[in-house]
Amino acid sequence: MSKCIVVGVTGGIAAFKTCQLVSNLKKKDYDIHVIMTKNATEFVSPLTFETLSGNRVSIDTFDRNFEYNVQHISLAKKADCFVIAPATANVIAKITHGLADDMLTTTFLAASCKKIICPAMNTGMLNNPVTIENINKCKELGYTIIDAESGLLACGDEGKGKLANIDIIEEAIEFAISPKPLLGQNILVTAGPTQEAIDPVRFITNHSSGKMGYAIAKAARNLGANVTLISGPCNLTPINLITNINITSADDLFIKMKELAMEQDCIIQTAAVADYTIPNPAIQKIKKNDSSLTLDLVKTDDILLYLGQNKQPNQILCGFAMETENLIENGTKKCINKNCDLLIANSLTTIGAGFKTDTNKVTIIRPSETKEIELMSKEKLAYVILEECYRGKINVTNN
Ligand SMILES: Cc1cc2nc3c(=O)[nH]c(=O)nc-3n(C[C@H](O)[C@H](O)[C@H](O)COP(=O)(O)O)c2cc1C
Repeated sequence: MSKCIVVGVTGGIAAFKTCQLVSNLKKKDYDIHVIMTKNATEFVSPLTFETLSGNRVSIDTFDRNFEYNVQHISLAKKADCFVIAPATANVIAKITHGLADDMLTTTFLAASCKKIICPAMNTGMLNNPVTIENINKCKELGYTIIDAESGLLACGDEGKGKLANIDIIEEAIEFAISPKPLLGQNILVTAGPTQEAIDPVRFITNHSSGKMGYAIAKAARNLGANVTLISGPCNLTPINLITNINITSADDLFIKMKELAMEQDCIIQTAAVADYTIPNPAIQKIKKNDSSLTLDLVKTDDILLYLGQNKQPNQILCGFAMETENLIENGTKKCINKNCDLLIANSLTTIGAGFKTDTNKVTIIRPSETKEIELMSKEKLAYVILEECYRGKINVTNN
């Protein structure tokens, strides 16, 4: 059954941004119930949230036209997470003092699930000592506060008070509702390409976007693991609540892996590491001349082989392979030769799979078996891969 998220919307100008949040969550198949304050309906029509969530919006505590007998209690019991976005100064003041004078605050008071508050207001309201005190009280009560951001506010003022980025709120919700079967596990994920310098302005690299590795790092964090992500140069934002390490070349990555590998319970080597590098990159920019240019390349250290040869007792080693032909044959060879427990093979020739896409279609290869996984988003696949790494020990995709 899909998780139930109650989204409280209050009377702030940022209420329109919550439409995007509800739409994103709905696309991920969560059961979304929106509760609006009466004032919030001045900013966005309930019809918008009803259409986006697929459920009727609750506003009035005394509305008798509902499927539940006591709507606020039913919703409070059903909720896996209650997020208020945007949260006005007024509603924050109410929830810190146990006031329950409308549907939103009554349901909030009755709910015992994870609660996330996303303040958004004018800087003066946010900096008022009474609001600061109320927000601190929310933290003491165990609610997660997603800090407002700074920028140009709708009222024309410049300062702190903008509703946090929707992606950050979405991430906080997913973190809050995920089970934590990987608590205490140290997981090291590598992601992205490496860059091998030719001279100070040029380098050799590949098309890896880092999306798959970042998705795995996020999923592992959501499931409770202590995650270290070593990332090659890519355009993705560092992930909250994990250790982010940036590297450039295959050699940088090898140094970091040797430093960190032994203390890991699980290593997932998603990075597309260069197989060849330039041993002595030019110190000055190589100038164009009339003749051709030959680059002397040498092999880089085989990091996956090193990890396989130095695998710790009970350590899980998961490799990745991108192939253009003979996927299973090449993948199985690599899995066995590198002493991996499993290897995730994806083919560049499969539609929707591989570099840069938001989806992937992979085959999970073990030394003596293979398993085809259907095409799915990299976010969802990340959980499948972690489940395969911890085969039989965690079940996170079927509940
Ligand atoms: C145009 C406009 C924008 C507003 N924006 C905010 C806001 O961003 N944050 C806030 O705390 N209050 C804002 N207010 C004030 C709230 O709407 C007001 O405090 C209201 O009583 C909040 O009701 P509620 O908390 O029950 O939704 C705004 C008011 C108006 C008229």
